[in-house]
Amino acid sequence: MIILHLLIPAAGSGSRMKAGKNKLLLNLNGESILYWTLKAVFLSEKVSWVGIIGQPHDRSEIINSIKEFAGKINWINGGNTRQESVRNGVNNLPSNAVKVLIHDGARCLIKSKLIDKCFTELEENDAVILAVKVTDTIKVVNENRIIKETPNRNFLWAAQTPQGFLVSQLKKAHQIAKDNSWNVTDDASLFERLKWPVKIIEGNSTNIKITSPIDLKIASLFLGNS
Ligand code: C5P
Repeated sequence: MIILHLLIPAAGSGSRMKAGKNKLLLNLNGESILYWTLKAVFLSEKVSWVGIIGQPHDRSEIINSIKEFAGKINWINGGNTRQESVRNGVNNLPSNAVKVLIHDGARCLIKSKLIDKCFTELEENDAVILAVKVTDTIKVVNENRIIKETPNRNFLWAAQTPQGFLVSQLKKAHQIAKDNSWNVTDDASLFERLKWPVKIIEGNSTNIKITSPIDLKIASLFLGNS
């Protein structure tokens, strides 16, 4: 059995949260957001190596906030964008890493069973992502907010994390992206640009990304009921 590694991008500034600090350090039902993410990660039966990608100036606060998990994680310095942070993470994986899952620290409602499902699918595939079917009708607009088109909803999925990849391919994709100044908001986008297949695994709509203050309220309710 191959060892499966998991990287957690946690190096954002939380500007949309307007909290003046890394949003992953904010209090959610008595713990930091990142604590809850790690709780789910370490409940997974398949996780064997976890790396947190964070800003050096957040390091001590992050380590304090994750309590019992502090001794179990590996620290990697993050970059100015998520893409740069993940690139640093992938380039600093142990040399025996074959497949890796990337899971945003901001998705603290992830269920450990879904992490396990991603790992299982990743054993059979080179690239997988968790996603949910889109239920709204989506409009593509121009810069003046005039609608250009309405894509067929049957083919629309909202991407989440975990996203999992063959390490050698992910490293290559990030290097090509750097060399060509591609800017993307998830790792699967790099594979799509390179025409490398990515399989979708159906996720759960509660696996929200904490982005703005309302998400914290929603997450608090979900955590209270789980
Ligand atoms: O900003 P957003 O919520 O989309 O970021 C998604 C994830 O990427 C978060 O967990 C955040 O901490 C991480 N991130 C990062 N490095 C950055 C920016 C964001 O690791 N420079």
